[in-house]
Amino acid sequence: MSISAVSNGIKLPLPKTQWHQRILSAQFLTHFQVSSAPYPPSLHLKRSFNFSKERFRLVKASAAPVVEAPKTSFRNKKPADINVLVVGSTGYIGNFVVKELVKRGFNVIAVAREKSGIRGRNDKDKTLEMLNGANVCFSDVTELDALEKSLANLGVPIDVVVSCLASRNGGVKDSWKIDYDATKNSLVAGRKFGASHFVLLSAICVQKPLLEFQRAKLKFEAELVEEAEKDEEFTYSIVRPTAFFKSLGGQVELVKDGKPYVMFGDGKLCACKPISEPDLASFIADCVLSENKINQFLPIGGPGKALTPLEQGEMLFKLLGKEPKFLKVPIEIMDFAIGVLDFLVKIFPSLEDAAEFGKIGRYYAAESMLVWEPETGEYNADKTPSYGTDTLEDFFKKVLTEGMEGQELGEQTIF
Ligand SMILES: NC(=O)c1ccc[n+]([C@@H]2O[C@H](COP(=O)([O-])OP(=O)(O)OC[C@H]3O[C@@H](n4cnc5c(N)ncnc54)[C@H](OP(=O)(O)O)[C@@H]3O)[C@@H](O)[C@H]2O)c1
Repeated sequence: MSISAVSNGIKLPLPKTQWHQRILSAQFLTHFQVSSAPYPPSLHLKRSFNFSKERFRLVKASAAPVVEAPKTSFRNKKPADINVLVVGSTGYIGNFVVKELVKRGFNVIAVAREKSGIRGRNDKDKTLEMLNGANVCFSDVTELDALEKSLANLGVPIDVVVSCLASRNGGVKDSWKIDYDATKNSLVAGRKFGASHFVLLSAICVQKPLLEFQRAKLKFEAELVEEAEKDEEFTYSIVRPTAFFKSLGGQVELVKDGKPYVMFGDGKLCACKPISEPDLASFIADCVLSENKINQFLPIGGPGKALTPLEQGEMLFKLLGKEPKFLKVPIEIMDFAIGVLDFLVKIFPSLEDAAEFGKIGRYYAAESMLVWEPETGEYNADKTPSYGTDTLEDFFKKVLTEGMEGQELGEQTIF
């Protein structure tokens, strides 16, 4: 079997084996997806408002001291009188965040594209259905003018911005376009219409930034902190979750079908405390009002102990009542592939995304999604806070009976 990367009309064969795809799906590759075209801004109110770099630089996930909420804070209002703008509202996490905020009684304004989701597969009606209970604002977060015009059309002030934006393909340019530029647009536009708090869905892996999307996120995080330093009435909460369930479920159905569980090295190279979409959404919703989350970096995992890929595989075989069967892949294979792609990028620059995807795969094969301690040079599971009740074991049980629907990683553009 082989797969090709097409660049500038040149077709390059890339090696692929039967388990190659599984290795990649075994990692937290959430970024191999396509983005759809922007849309002119328009507003759909479903209910009335109550108008009331360095490559190896390590970044510590330390928490700032708890600060007092600004005096004029929206926090004194009832949720029904608080207007929360959610960007990235149609994503895996963003959609749960919208549901949770609606459930808690906030006035939610969900910014969306008319064709949302992986490959733009949700049309306008489906998008409106997904965002039921929120006021849907069709706009383009990648264009500041368009976004500002849409918010002006709303005619209401914004109190809080929640960003769950993320590049859908994880490529170098798209990461900067979404994880930095579009997220920055939502800050600038939100501020223009009065926002005094910003909740950012980031990622725990930015502590050790080796990848382009991590650098893009870090740049935005730094500017958010600067904004709060310039204006004491403005606050932020930066949420840095560990792994999502969808990123760990890729092998469940294959193992059920009798295939071995694929892992790198001895299966103990990395570990994580996975968190479900509803639990993470609940934590993010807490950040809207919780004063003890103001101006904080908030690493967050799910309940229970940290799990290595080996332990995840063992859990799966136990649930199936089968003898464990592992396929251990040397991590050096990825180093070799990355070396080849890095070399090819020099000749074919348009292969930069393929090279970046290789690095993403390598990163998640070897780096834990836990709090990193620069002092010890180690990840620390005990210092990685837990939140919520949903366990990976329950998630595996659900996938074994119901499949992976709703947990898709999205289109893989290269692998
Ligand atoms: N996977 C993990 O294990 C993991 C762990 C920790 C942290 N994270 C981080 O969590 C974040 C969110 O992940 P997710 O899985 O919820 O993301 P996702 O499902 O890919 O959703 C991305 C959101 O951004 C929007 N978006 C992307 N490109 C856009 C564009 N060009 N114009 C307008 N909107 C655009 C999408 O809108 P459309 O629906 O219109 O495309 C969607 O609402 C990421 O930053 C990731 O790094 C992931």
